[in-house]
Amino acid sequence: MKITILTLFPEMFDGFKTTSIIKRALEKDNIELEVVNFRDYTTDRHQKVDDTPYGGGNGMVLSCQPIVDCLKSVKSYNSKTYLMAPTGVCLNQKLVRQLAENEHIILVCGHYEGFDHRINNYVDGAISIGDYILTGGELAAQIVSDAIFRVSDGVIAENSHLDESFENDFLEYPHYTKPFEYDGHKVPEVLISGHHLNISNYRLKQSMLITKKYRKDLFERHNFTKRELKVLNDEKIFADID
Ligand SMILES: C[S@@+](CC[C@H](N)C(=O)[O-])C[C@H]1O[C@@H](n2cnc3c(N)ncnc32)[C@H](O)[C@@H]1O
Repeated sequence: MKITILTLFPEMFDGFKTTSIIKRALEKDNIELEVVNFRDYTTDRHQKVDDTPYGGGNGMVLSCQPIVDCLKSVKSYNSKTYLMAPTGVCLNQKLVRQLAENEHIILVCGHYEGFDHRINNYVDGAISIGDYILTGGELAAQIVSDAIFRVSDGVIAENSHLDESFENDFLEYPHYTKPFEYDGHKVPEVLISGHHLNISNYRLKQSMLITKKYRKDLFERHNFTKRELKVLNDEKIFADID
């Protein structure tokens, strides 16, 4: 999996590329991050990449030419291209999984007032990271890249994904670590019982109750399995979420 970022501010990716899990992922053969400055592709003799908006108004609009020429240069037959844009499809874990199936993804970071609308004729789509406005697409592209790399082969242990929030509509169950008692707050006894089935049922029940409490929308649209219904309604399984 390769991700290419088109940006006017490549230095914003320095920390992202050289820290923690993403740094280790990029040391693997199957994961690559390329950051390209699309200002290098402008044909303007003053290196301009933007201009004032037709119709008037505040701010500068990114011109098509540098971005389209840059896209042509970095694209190959298997590339999928997306603008980072508030108008795009909102990112969620399902979309992350779909994007991760591609061999090459290109993310174009906007800035200022955003893109000349005609840029949409040259890309496969647009991705938003939520209903708020950032100053530029760089942080959004890092979020998309991080989430994609995280589910890519070999980046983290495969079974770490299984119970994670959003993988199966549910939020994850709570975690605890040592000490057993902190400031009077104890770890649920079942977690030190060594009884794998009880622990698994307890965690599943916690996961369902937390989702019901904090994300009713996810809980209500879930198709419950027989096991989930049994665990949910089993009074004997300790439940500390109301
Ligand atoms: C200040 S924003 C432009 C906002 C635009 N004028 C509007 O109102 O929709 C500049 C750039 O930041 C990026 N951006 C801002 N918010 C974003 C979001 N929620 N998701 C993805 N990208 C975003 C986009 O690349 C955008 O072109």
